[in-house]
Amino acid sequence: MDRGGAFIGKLIAIAALLFATAAPRGDAPPAFEQLRWTAPGAARTLLSEQPATCLAANNDMVRSGRALFGTPTLLGGQAAKAGLSCASCHINGRDNPHFLLAGVSAAPGTADVTNSFFSAARGNGLFDPVLIPDLARPGKVARDPEARALEAFIRNLIVEEFGGQEPTPAMLAALAAYVRAVRSCPGEPTVARRLGDQLAAIADGAAGAQLMIGRGDRQGARLSIAAMRHQLGLVAERYAGPGFARDRAALLAGSRQLQAIGDIADVGQMRLAIDRWTLGFETGLAQRLRRAEARSLYDPTHLDRALR
Ligand code: HEC
Repeated sequence: MDRGGAFIGKLIAIAALLFATAAPRGDAPPAFEQLRWTAPGAARTLLSEQPATCLAANNDMVRSGRALFGTPTLLGGQAAKAGLSCASCHINGRDNPHFLLAGVSAAPGTADVTNSFFSAARGNGLFDPVLIPDLARPGKVARDPEARALEAFIRNLIVEEFGGQEPTPAMLAALAAYVRAVRSCPGEPTVARRLGDQLAAIADGAAGAQLMIGRGDRQGARLSIAAMRHQLGLVAERYAGPGFARDRAALLAGSRQLQAIGDIADVGQMRLAIDRWTLGFETGLAQRLRRAEARSLYDPTHLDRALR
């Protein structure tokens, strides 16, 4: 098996390297991680709009899966370093018509992910990007929970394509539960991006961490905490500029606290620490961020100005 040679992992490594070596400018515009894989000209649309998703179920399993779906470290290796997660291609479980990454995409909205998945067995190395599918629609992978084809597909994607760590059964179950729950919303193709997206995702990560701890799954718990930290980073991107220095420092401090919580050996203590952190965040920093949202880059006018 071509484990070390995960094709897409190598391509992302090259793209990430190109990105990392771009010289920072003194007057550099705010850096948005998502623009690393966004077609030129689509930045404003991608950063201000997103496909609306209505979930068929919203229990802790689905929420846990949604948190993992947005976590780069689930994919491991170079994809994680570039900040790429399942949600980079499948925004809210849907598609991403603006996705463009050198070596991975042909045209915007396409990616080559199954190439080495299949070619490792068949022994060819074709570059064959296809349209990123909307997971709300029936596709080639059966969603039937009995057949478990979806779990097998996702497992192969993580381990074989992206070079990620072997996911635990609880993680796979959560990811599959989320994918199975993704539906389009009647009459609402897109919605605005808001601070509330990140706050909800942070709450999902906390719920997911508790669920994983309850299942004795440390790896799942750590990744759920990584999910929360990633979302804090996305918030920090939107609170750019000197006026928000204090909030960015608080976001960074919160992320470091979560990192330490992920290292707590005793799972009972870890549970308590996550609850305490979440309560502190929701009653403190999250409130402050909400009050300042209209001045942040979640606001379309401020975003436009920053992208100019
Ligand atoms: C680089 C972009 C990219 C990333 C990252 C990505 N996907 Fe996909 N995904 C695709 C593309 C392209 C296809 C279509 C592959 C094909 O049809 O051969 C696909 C197919 C799928 C399908 C099958 C849909 C069907 O037809 O039934 C599922 C399920 C899926 N992805 C889930 C995931 C999950 C879960 C993750 C994270 C572990 C993930 N994807 C990460 C691009 C991506």
